[in-house]
Amino acid sequence: MTENTNQSLVQIGRSEKFNARLGMGGSFYGLDHASAQGEADILAAMETALDKGITHFDTASGYGNGYSERLIGRFMAADSSRRERIFLASKFASDDISAQAMIKAIDASRDRLQTDMIDLYYIHWPRTGKDLRPLMEGLETARQQGKIQAIGVSNFSVEQMAQLGEVGRIDAHQLGYNLLWRYDEADIIPYCVENNISVVVYSALAHGILAGKYARELDFVKGDQRWSITLFRDSVWPRIYEALEDFKALAEQTGYPLTQLAIQWLLHQRGITSVLVGAKNKAQALANVQALQADIPDSVFNELTALSDQVSQYIPDEGNPFGYHP
Ligand SMILES: NC(=O)c1ccc[n+]([C@@H]2O[C@H](COP(=O)([O-])OP(=O)(O)OC[C@H]3O[C@@H](n4cnc5c(N)ncnc54)[C@H](OP(=O)(O)O)[C@@H]3O)[C@@H](O)[C@H]2O)c1
Repeated sequence: MTENTNQSLVQIGRSEKFNARLGMGGSFYGLDHASAQGEADILAAMETALDKGITHFDTASGYGNGYSERLIGRFMAADSSRRERIFLASKFASDDISAQAMIKAIDASRDRLQTDMIDLYYIHWPRTGKDLRPLMEGLETARQQGKIQAIGVSNFSVEQMAQLGEVGRIDAHQLGYNLLWRYDEADIIPYCVENNISVVVYSALAHGILAGKYARELDFVKGDQRWSITLFRDSVWPRIYEALEDFKALAEQTGYPLTQLAIQWLLHQRGITSVLVGAKNKAQALANVQALQADIPDSVFNELTALSDQVSQYIPDEGNPFGYHP
């Protein structure tokens, strides 16, 4: 049974489908893919999110090497009403940047997702110094064939977007944005606003930092992907940890959990269409849904921005939150 939340409806591209402002992330970061319990928890999170009106589901062919798409495909196939209620987004990245590679990737995603049409399909990452217009041509062909409805890019610069715009229409840009990472406010978000490109945000909780889940001493195992994230660097993390204490104190004063403040702050920023949050179990999904129902005064958003401004000076701009430039 679908419950009403107070979220407003949005549209990405020319798609007829409307989707909610909060999206369910599908990277299942840190999940042991062999764990039956982990999988059951994620299916429960998806069910809860959808039943509470979170209809935007985001995945990628690269998440778990196709695992995430297959799991969401199984989730939708288990109840025939689910596919029509979901605004489905996926992505692809590869070193083969031909139009054929893109069309092949879209077909493989459709197979794994058990659907004829994917609402939004992104180029997941640019390739430094490469001309990706052939990938865009592949996306436009797939759109004409009815295999996808809207086209997105993710982690692109303004120049890279402008180049693709010569051969097709970009409907959405997915980028990292949160209280601890705001570099795209300078040029990319304004460019999207000007060009009527929807902005979908990832890392809303800054890799879980804004959920307050890390101690002062980080203890990720060797090889954990998080070591490569700028915010966890030795030279940056102590400042983040200090700032987090201030964010937590503000959350306590207001009576709202910091996760809700962080999500709502994003939804109040200029040009933001939809915010993705990864939830790995029912409780997290429920907590994130509640963020949409919170009625937070503007003065609190101003205080959040002020705290964010203070810590931002210690965070180096590495182009994206992962400092990853394939
Ligand atoms: N386009 C891209 O390049 C890109 C990059 C990254 C992500 N994404 C997309 O964005 C989605 C969001 O992922 P993200 O990695 O950016 O995640 P995030 O929103 O920054 O953090 C997600 C993590 O926060 C924790 N969490 C979520 N809700 C919580 C709650 N209510 N209370 C406490 N902890 C909570 C969970 O941590 P635990 O795991 O510890 O439970 C969860 O895994 C991904 O699933 C993916 O779809 C896209």
